[in-house]
This record gives sequence, C-alpha cells and structure tokens, in this order.
Amino acid sequence: MSNLWKVSTDRFTNEKESIMRNGNVYQIANGYMGYRGTLDEFGPDELVGITLAGIFDRVGDAWREPVNAPNGGFIKVALDGREISARSTTVKNHQQSLNLENAVFERETDYVSQGKTLKIKSTRFLSADKPNLGVIKYSVTSNKAAKVKISTGIDYNIWDLNGPHLLNLSPKKKNGALLVHAVTNEASKNVAIAEAVDLNFGKETHKLGNKKNLRVISLDAEAGKTYTFYKYFAVYTDNDPVKTSVNEAAINSVKEAKDLGYEKCLDKHNAQWTKKWEYCDVKIDGDDEAQQALRYSIFQLLIVAPVNGSKNSIPARALSGQVYKGAIFWDTEMFMFPFFLYTYPEKAVELMRYRIKTLAGARRKAKTEGVGFRGAFYAWESQETGDDACTYFNIGDPFTKRDLRTHFRDKQVHISGDVAIAMWEYFKLTGDDSLLLEGGAEVILECARFYYSYAYFKKDKNQYEILDVIGPDEYHERVNNNAFTSMVAKATFEIANATVKYLKQKHPGKLNALVKKIKIARELPLFVEAAGLLYVPQPDEKTGVIEQFDAYYKLKDTTVEELKARMIHPNEYLGAGQGLAVPTKVIKQADVVMMLNLFKDRYSKEIKKANWEYYEPRTEHGSSLSACAYAMVAADIGKLDWAYNYFLKTAKIDIEAKYKVYVGTVFMGGSHPAANGGAWMTAVFGFGGVKAGEEHVSINPRLYKKWKNLQFNMVYKGDRFNIKITKDDVAIIADISNKRKHTFIVSGKSIDCAPGKPSSIKYQ
Ligand code: BGC
Repeated sequence: MSNLWKVSTDRFTNEKESIMRNGNVYQIANGYMGYRGTLDEFGPDELVGITLAGIFDRVGDAWREPVNAPNGGFIKVALDGREISARSTTVKNHQQSLNLENAVFERETDYVSQGKTLKIKSTRFLSADKPNLGVIKYSVTSNKAAKVKISTGIDYNIWDLNGPHLLNLSPKKKNGALLVHAVTNEASKNVAIAEAVDLNFGKETHKLGNKKNLRVISLDAEAGKTYTFYKYFAVYTDNDPVKTSVNEAAINSVKEAKDLGYEKCLDKHNAQWTKKWEYCDVKIDGDDEAQQALRYSIFQLLIVAPVNGSKNSIPARALSGQVYKGAIFWDTEMFMFPFFLYTYPEKAVELMRYRIKTLAGARRKAKTEGVGFRGAFYAWESQETGDDACTYFNIGDPFTKRDLRTHFRDKQVHISGDVAIAMWEYFKLTGDDSLLLEGGAEVILECARFYYSYAYFKKDKNQYEILDVIGPDEYHERVNNNAFTSMVAKATFEIANATVKYLKQKHPGKLNALVKKIKIARELPLFVEAAGLLYVPQPDEKTGVIEQFDAYYKLKDTTVEELKARMIHPNEYLGAGQGLAVPTKVIKQADVVMMLNLFKDRYSKEIKKANWEYYEPRTEHGSSLSACAYAMVAADIGKLDWAYNYFLKTAKIDIEAKYKVYVGTVFMGGSHPAANGGAWMTAVFGFGGVKAGEEHVSINPRLYKKWKNLQFNMVYKGDRFNIKITKDDVAIIADISNKRKHTFIVSGKSIDCAPGKPSSIKYQ
C-alpha cells in the first residue's frame, strides 16, 4: 500500500495541543459516530471523544451540543504494577496511522518501564456496515516475563465542552457484556453503550470505580509472547429505531459482532469502503502532494456521510467533537453537498431530508426573528429540531471576556436560499422528483415566502431589495443589497417558480394539495414578480467590479497585513461592533467571488476576472470556506497557479492541522468538512471544469500543468460515469448498467455517451 492511502506518524508528542490536533487528524467515523484519534489508554484530559451524530443536549444556559458517548474503546495496561500510558511512561517507539482505504486506525508503541519493554499494538474501526458498532484488536508483548494487568471496558468519565450531558450513568455487567446506561440531561433520551471481549488468556475480574466499568485481566506474561484479544462496543440511543430497549440493542449488537468475529466484521466493513471509493475517489496523476491531500479530504467527507435513513446532516466540524455546537451551517449545502450529489446521491438525499425534517424549526425561526416573517428562515446553526443554536452574542471578546453582539443568527438570511438551491440541484441532477414530493417542494416554497416577506419593495425604483443582512463576509454586518444574498434570494424565487411549473405539469394534484396545505396560492404570482424585479448589484460598467454591498466602496482601503499588524490579541475578532475590519474593505471570506462561482453561468470571464482581482487582495480568509471559492474562480478565469495554491490550501487544511483553534474566546478546534468539500469541488469543477445541468454535463478542462491526468467517477441522472481528463482529451466511460445515453459537451463539442460505450474527445 503506498502512502497515498495512508496518513501516519512515528512520533508521539506529549503536549496537549499536539494531542488535540492529532485527535482530529487521526479520527475515524462512520456517520453514526466519530472517534477521535486518541490512544487506547487516554481519557478526557487527552480529549477522547466518541461524538454521536444527531443527538444533542443542553446543560443550563450553556450551549447545546452533541452528546459524547462513554468510551467503550478504553484499554489500559499495567506492567508489574505500574500503569502504562504515553503521557507518563517512556516511549521508545511510537507509530500510528490511518488507513484511508478503509478508515482503520492503528497504533504500535514500545514502552520502557522498570527495565522491561512492553509493546502495545491496536487496530480500531467503526463499522461502516453496522453503524452502531466499534471494533478493536489489541495485543501486548513484554520482552521479559512480567505481571500484566489489562483494564478494559467502558470509561464513562466523558470529555464534554458544555456538559455533563449524560445523567444517571449506571454501569452493569450482564451475560458477560459490560453496559453503561444513561439519560440525556435535557430531553431524557436513553443512551446505552455495551462492550464485549473475545479473550482467551489470564484471569478476569469485574471492577467498578472512578467512572469506569471494567474487566481486569491479570496474567503472568511470558517473555516475548504476544497476547491478543478483540473488543466490540456498541452505542444505541433513543434516536435509533430499536425494537426493545437501547440496553438490549447494544448488548445484542456486541454479542452478534463477537459471534461473527473480528475478521468477518472487518471484511463487511471493508466491503462498504470498497464501494465508497469506487464511487468517490479522484485520481491525480503526477502530483502526490495534491493526491494525498485531496484523498484525505474525500475521506473526511466519507467518514461523516449520514447513515442512510437517519435524516441527519453534517456539522461544520463534522464528528470531530462538540466544537461549534455540532451545528449544521450553510457549509453543508454549499460546500459538502455537491460532492455527495455528484458521487453518492444516497447521501446527498439524506442531507436534504434533514432540511425537510427541520422545516418546522425554520418556520418557527421566521415567525419569531426580528419583526416576524413568514415562510422558512433556516437556522444559522442548526441542530436536532432546526431551531437556531446560534446566539445573539456568539463570540467572546478576549479582552473584556464579554460576549459580542453578532448578527449571524438574525441577519445571515442567505441560509434559506442555500437550502433551496441545493434542493433544486438534487432534482435537476438526479432527475428524481421524489424528494420534491416528500417535502422538498414545500421547503422551496417556504424559503421563497420568507424572502418575499423579508424584502422591501421600492415603489420609486420599481424594485425589490434585500436590506439589513450579513453576506458570507461576516466582518460587515447589517449591510444593504449584499450581492451574494440578493442573488441567492432571486434564485430562490426562480426555483420556486420552476418548482410550481414542474409540479403543475407532472403532479397537479400534489401541487394543489401543497398549495392548499400551506395556503400559498395568493403569493405564487408575487414570486414571479420578485424573481424579475429583485435588485442584485451589477458589475460596474467601466471596471466590471460588483460592489459587495451598498457603500462598501466608502470603507477604508487597507491591506490585510496592515490590519493584522494592528491586532493586539492573537484571537481578537475582526468583526462584530468594534472589530478592526469593520470600517475597512477587508473581508473575512469569499463573498462576491462566492457568488460568481455559485452562479458561474450568469457572468462572463471578464467580470469574474475583474472581481477576483479586486477582492482577492482584500480577503483575509478568516474562514476555511474561503480558499476553495477563490480556487474555483481562478481556475475558471485561467489563473491556474493561483487556483492550485488555493486548492492546496483548502485540501491540506485537515491533514496538516495548522488551523486556528480560537475565534475570540470560542474554542473551535476540529475538522473542516466544508473545506474538504471545497477541495473536491476545486479538483472536479475547477480543474476538471465539470458542470452538470438539466440537459447535459459540460466539461471544460483546465488541467494544472503538473497533473498528467485527472480521473474521477460521477453520477448523473442516476447513471454512472468514469471520466479521465488528460492534457489533450477527455475519455468518458458510461457504465454498462446505465439506463440510457446522456449528452456531454466537452469544450463545446457534443458527444452522446451510451451505456457501456467508451467515448473520447479531443479538447485542445
Ligand atoms: C464562517 C461561516 C461558516 C462558519 C462555520 C464561520 O467562520 O464565516 O461562513 O459557516 O464559520 O464553518
């Protein structure tokens, strides 16, 4: 296996920050839960976290956040009476790795204690086949005869940011399995974790204490002999469709896994991973650095893809911990969703189902926010119910330790349109209208309704305007006519109109029922009017530059460097009321450029170039979402070196783990799935020049000079394709099982791709 499929280190750095970052880099996950890349013997001090998807809890007035489960993977060894840990014992050798092929974490450590060397080896995976299940293979070898004690079981001393979330933690041993049951603090949801081992050496006793439910295995280890055992743990909560109780489900699950055995569990897990990579891998020939970073980014998305049927989405810090409240932002629709839509639609649909599930919350928010609106105003930070987890004072000021008023929650209204756009893209690219019928159309109409009630009609100008908002650039709050937001709102009206038109033709009865249900008949013609009369800032006639919002040009022109030189505290926030960026043209992240990318067909190359060149030097990239937008537009306008640099920036963010971990006083150290999605988009949309539309797929390649070829798979209208772009041509293989032929337009040349037939077309 080459290192393009592996991330590894041969060093253990005994320092908290490094342990935290490594925990992110080496995390494994399976959509149901994430397990940080910490060592078996670690605990809450080392930020061990098994973060569960889609189950949240709140303690007092602190932030609601996802629940971390008790650690069923806990294993600690004592050698001749002394406990062994990488934090306190001499480490002679240490290696740990993450296999990207199948999300298996491995570590091997040689410890020296009292003149003896103890080797610990473990392999861990969270089953991609059975999402509630985790599996570990663990072995110990002492170079000299020694008394070895292995303590393993469930550690329920849980690392929480704003906990404790689990109450009444009660440990048990039942029919050989260990169990910890608890209920969540806020909603009293049941959470159970069970553990079983397959072990045939030593003498086992049961031990409770220090928030651990353990089996202690004592043995007189022979010199040089390796003792191996297997460990299975399972987590169940009330969010799972369990037939009996969560306790029984967890116990049954570990028993079944134990009966099946480690190798078979691994085989089933691997089979799922083979499928994932078959769908989603992107090969870059000629550039190992880019290849590894991109593959790692794709890996990060695959491990957190929601479990089928769960109606869960992906938080901004994925499942790497409780950071950012485990909340779902626009990051999902705008940055991650395209990857799933083009490669793995059964996951894309789940992300959309989450928005349908949380429509009621979005309606509540619309009603109660500001002066009160109609329709659906999606949460800026969304959790289980869709009510907003974002607070009005969302960032702490490191100087005064007071919370700063931010308007992310009440003014970042583009979120609703981002959802509507993704919903419609799903229909357009899959051709599958079932999502529209199961609530997607309702979401779209309610988002349009929200914008209609948010917009102002200026009689004198005969136009609608969207005022008092925050665009993607969060350093400038409460601005008027933000180009991105207005364009997204306009697109939402267009999409609502197209939805009505489609349903009228194909499902008139369903349309009538929906219109009646949400009493929207009177408003439908207004959406048509608003789509035409909504004002979106236009390119300046001379320069081609689009003003980001009204009066942006009046702000002070300064450089990012100059601004940063004026910072007094490394974590000070540049936005909100007093931030250094507020009176200046320095922006946090791609905003107009983001719009030019999202609506790339509506703007000429000249306009894109003018805006890219204007805004690029004024962008601080204070968000990990920024680089990929600059990368994609750079590719579009032929600035390939720039595109490449920004591509590496977005693709390497999590593998390098050099990101900032504080904004103001808020800890936000975790992984960046939006940037990971941006890496995939830059490779396929940017350098590959791929864009799927309603009628055909167009490919306008602009391969980076280092790259010999770029190869990937994609799904279009339910059919699969393999695409290979070389310096001169594009080869498309339509899967033999495809249902029909599809049109591809490669650099203006049209080609029909029939099932099973390879096609190749010269583009240079
Ligand atoms: C960015 C937002 C983003 C959020 C979560 C913020 O720093 O400005 O655009 O949605 O982080 O990633």
